[in-house]
Amino acid sequence: MKKDLLKLLDLSREEITEILNIADQLKYEKKHGIAQKHLEGKTLAMIFEKNSTRTRVSFEAGMFQLGGHALFLSGKESQIGRGEPIQDTARVLSRYCDGIMIRTFGQDEVEQLAQYATVPVINGLTDFCHPCQVLADLLTVREHKAVLEGLKLCYIGDGNNMANSLIVGGLKMGMEVAAACPEGYDPDPQVLAFAKSGPAHRFTLCRTPQEAAAGADVVFTDVWASMGQEEEKAVREKAFQGFCVDAGLMALANPGCMVQHCLPAHRGEEIAADVFEAHAQEIFDEAENRLHAQKAVMYLLMKEN
Ligand code: CP
Ligand code: NVA
Repeated sequence: MKKDLLKLLDLSREEITEILNIADQLKYEKKHGIAQKHLEGKTLAMIFEKNSTRTRVSFEAGMFQLGGHALFLSGKESQIGRGEPIQDTARVLSRYCDGIMIRTFGQDEVEQLAQYATVPVINGLTDFCHPCQVLADLLTVREHKAVLEGLKLCYIGDGNNMANSLIVGGLKMGMEVAAACPEGYDPDPQVLAFAKSGPAHRFTLCRTPQEAAAGADVVFTDVWASMGQEEEKAVREKAFQGFCVDAGLMALANPGCMVQHCLPAHRGEEIAADVFEAHAQEIFDEAENRLHAQKAVMYLLMKEN
């Protein structure tokens, strides 16, 4: 039966570990010029209903490096933008391609696409989650810290797609997770229910960034207004005052604490410019790891189809 990557809630710790291990291997092969044409002759359709730089380029480059081909479909320019049902798009693309990556708004659209497609579907971001990004994030933290289990992951900001995936991914990998979100901007209830179903000391939802950052080994943040929330920008800027990852906040974290940002970043809003630059190496390692993590996902899902 075909497998999909729709959200991290669907994956076990062992499955996440397998993806990270294969990503490490593919990264090593790439750096050492070892051939890796595991998906020769295969095609990935990439549907984008929202903007992208990293996701588009890393999937396309990754598919090429694996010997396959990726094609870009913009929501607006394809028949999707003129109302063709997702069920039909799923069945048509399954006749041409070996996998489908989709970036869109509702998680239900991705789930429906996967239900009707006969080829693997990969979630390249929805309003609910961003699993490919968080696989890359976990890969980056593991590279820098050697382990994940027992580390404290701190998330500062909006309880958005990134917060949802980081909470689930971090907890599944045995990390301690603290998220600081202003009231009214909490992570998704499904994610909070999952987080609260584990041991109480492993997850904390805080109202102050200081509480979440204390003793952290890695601090994550993300934009205050996500794609699709542009008109809420001014209201959100007010609500998130005090939620900037700055030097004062970082002083509360453990020595050697990492900073991660999925990008694009807004300096002076969710992250101070000096903190961003001080951690630029780790942040761009994180961006690079999108490539390796997604190649691992495509390898695992598409190699036998
Ligand atoms: N982080 C991320 O998903 O970047 P893009 O929006 O550029 O794809
Ligand atoms: N939360 C952001 C992530 C961008 C990669 C958004 O959805 O716009």
